[in-house]
Amino acid sequence: MEAPFKVGGVVVPPYFADRVRDLDVLGRSARNLDQHFLILAPRRFGKTSLLLNLHRYLDDEKSLLVPYVNFRDVAGPEDIYRLMSRALLEEIERKQRLKGIWTKFRTVFGEGMLRAMRSLEGLGGEVGEWGKVYLRFREHEIDDKELLRAAFSFPKRVASEHRVGVAFLLDEFQEVAGFDGYLFSVLKKEMDQSGDVRYFFTGSSLGSIKEIFLRENAPLYLMVTRYRLGPLPRDEAMKFLKERFSSGRLDVDMEAIEHLYSLTDGIPFYLQKLGLILFQRTLIEKLASVDEKDVDAAFEQMLAELDGEFEVRWLHKFSRLQRRILRTLAKIEALGVTRVASRLGMKPSDISSSLARMRETMVVEKGNSGYRIVDAVFSRWIRSL
Ligand SMILES: Nc1ncnc2c1ncn2[C@@H]1O[C@H](COP(=O)(O)OP(=O)(O)OP(=O)(O)O)[C@@H](O)[C@H]1O
Ligand SMILES: [Mg+2]
Repeated sequence: MEAPFKVGGVVVPPYFADRVRDLDVLGRSARNLDQHFLILAPRRFGKTSLLLNLHRYLDDEKSLLVPYVNFRDVAGPEDIYRLMSRALLEEIERKQRLKGIWTKFRTVFGEGMLRAMRSLEGLGGEVGEWGKVYLRFREHEIDDKELLRAAFSFPKRVASEHRVGVAFLLDEFQEVAGFDGYLFSVLKKEMDQSGDVRYFFTGSSLGSIKEIFLRENAPLYLMVTRYRLGPLPRDEAMKFLKERFSSGRLDVDMEAIEHLYSLTDGIPFYLQKLGLILFQRTLIEKLASVDEKDVDAAFEQMLAELDGEFEVRWLHKFSRLQRRILRTLAKIEALGVTRVASRLGMKPSDISSSLARMRETMVVEKGNSGYRIVDAVFSRWIRSL
C-alpha cells in the first residue's frame, strides 16, 4: 500500500493540506495583478508546495500565466534568462494552446545561428525578439548585463502582445543575494513599470532576504508586500490528518490526532514526517489502532532522526548568548524580553540585539504575550538537552 504521507519535495493533493486562506489571498492578488509579494517562512513550512499549488489553483485562468522558477537552480544571468523564458513560454503554450513555442525558442541555446534565426522568424513578435537577444549575446554583441535586463523586461512585452497577465513565481530568491547588484537595479526598474506582470518571491533565510528587500537601504526596499506563511491552521491540519490516516486504513483516535497536531504545531513537514513514522510503526508492529502513547513513541523516533541536523543547527547557527536565550524560551514560552533577561541574570539591553537577530531569521517570533521559538519540534529538542 502507498504511504499516506509524503516527506520532502513538493506535495500536491491529497498530500497537500488545503491552505485555503493563503491560496485565496495570493490567488486573488495574482488575478488582480495588484502587487508584488515576498512570501516569508522558515525552511520546510511549505513555500515551494504553496507556490506550485497556487499555480494549480489558477489553472482555469486562461489569461493569467503563472510561471515558476526555482532560483536554487540559478548560477548567473544566463540561467536566469533561460529559466525565465522557458517557464513563461511553456505557460503560454499550455494556457493559450500555442504548441511548439518553447521548442522553437530553445534553438537559440544549442542550434547553429542560421537554424536558430529561422526558428525565431517563425515565432515572430516579442517572443522572437526575446530570442534574438540571446543570439546577440552568443555573438558577444551584448554582455550578460543586457541579457539579464532582457530576462526581466520581455515578460511584460510578451504579456501585452498576448493580452495576458503574468504572476511570476520566483522561489528561493535568497539564492541571488550574492549576485552582482546590477540584478537588483534591473529588477527595481522592472517592478516599477511591470505592466501586467507581478512577482511572487519566496525566501527562507531572512539574513539574505533582508539584504535584498527589507533593510532600509536595500535595493528592493518597499517594493514588495510581505506575506508571512505560517504553519497549517488547526482545523486544516486536523482534517488533513484524519483523511490521510483513513486513506492508509489506520485507526487513530481523536486524542492521538490532537496530540500529533499539538506536538508539531501544525508545521507541515513535521506533520508529514510524524504521520509517516506512525504509519510505518503500525505496519511493523502490526498494531490494530493508534493512541497517544504511540504518537509519543513516534515523536521520540522523529527527534532521534533529526538529532544530527538539530545539533549542527544548534552549534553553528547561534552564539552562546543566543543558545542561553533559546534554552530559556524552550522551557517557558511567551516571556517578554525583561523576564528572559532576568532569568539569565542580565539586563534587557544585554540580550535585545541577540533576540532581534533571531527574530529576523525567523527562529523566534513575538506574540502578544512574549517571545516563542517558531519551530516547536526544535524547541522540544532544546528542552531535552
Ligand atoms: N500544505 C501542505 N500540506 C501538507 N504537507 C505539506 C504542505 N506543505 C508542505 N508540506 C510538507 O512539508 C515538506 C516541505 O515542503 P516544501 O518543500 O514545500 O517547503 P519549503 O518551505 O519550500 O522548504 P525549503 O525551505 O526547504 O525549500 C513537504 O515535502 C511536505 O511533506
Ligand atoms: Mg522550497
